[in-house]
Amino acid sequence: MSKSATSVRFAAVGDLHATKDSAGTLRGLFAQASAAADVLLLCGDLTDYGTAEEAHVLAEELSAVSVPIVAVLGNHDYESGTPQLVCEALSRAGVRVLDGEACEIEGVGIAGAKGFAGGFGRGSLGSWGEPAIKQFVQEALHEAMKLESALAKLRTQRRIALLHYSPIAGTVAGEPVDIFPFLGSSRLEEPLLRYPVDAVFHGHAHRGTLEGRTVNGVPVYNVARPLLLRLHPDQPPFRLFELPRERADVQQPAVAAALAAAAPDG
Ligand SMILES: [Fe+2]
Ligand SMILES: [Fe+2]
Repeated sequence: MSKSATSVRFAAVGDLHATKDSAGTLRGLFAQASAAADVLLLCGDLTDYGTAEEAHVLAEELSAVSVPIVAVLGNHDYESGTPQLVCEALSRAGVRVLDGEACEIEGVGIAGAKGFAGGFGRGSLGSWGEPAIKQFVQEALHEAMKLESALAKLRTQRRIALLHYSPIAGTVAGEPVDIFPFLGSSRLEEPLLRYPVDAVFHGHAHRGTLEGRTVNGVPVYNVARPLLLRLHPDQPPFRLFELPRERADVQQPAVAAALAAAAPDG
């Protein structure tokens, strides 16, 4: 599919859970996504056990992609204690792996972080009591801060946030209520209120809900592949999302403010 002059198309999917036996099984999906979109977004759990071998299989499958790829890691990519090996293998394959960083592709800013668990709203775990509880909550806060610092760097009109864990309860609904606290954290929603984006993509909740919204109305999409496969078995398992291309004649707010400040009075 040729590029659109007026919009940028994203194909988003998470929870590929690539194993050493996945060779040849993901290439078709990636080729379809690459043909349908200008950018491929990968929302974590890219490998099943986070081994270098799995990451190499995935990297090989990703050679079917001819558009830029931006990713965050998921909890499964940490299972073997070597997420850096997963990151390195993917980076060598040209994937931009975001861990509290931001990048700009086709004029759209993308901020990414894995995120963490902890629960939603009144069910959020508080930092109180044993050191282990405080450490757990601290990890959620740390991931939220990573997302915030990545968002703060973006100067584009159009912005996307990429996560593995969910920032809202709405897109994990469908999972057993007992495990909601392990599927995401409202702490990840807070930076999204301070730095609004056009859309949020996450995975992790394989049996959740496809769409929800933050309290300030930003659409949140759960793109866990098992969920997409189950709910849309007749379609390739990725979500397509489109944003208008940034117009060169529209000044950025920060640039406009700087120009206004520099202009002489009157
Ligand atoms: Fe997963
Ligand atoms: Fe996960």
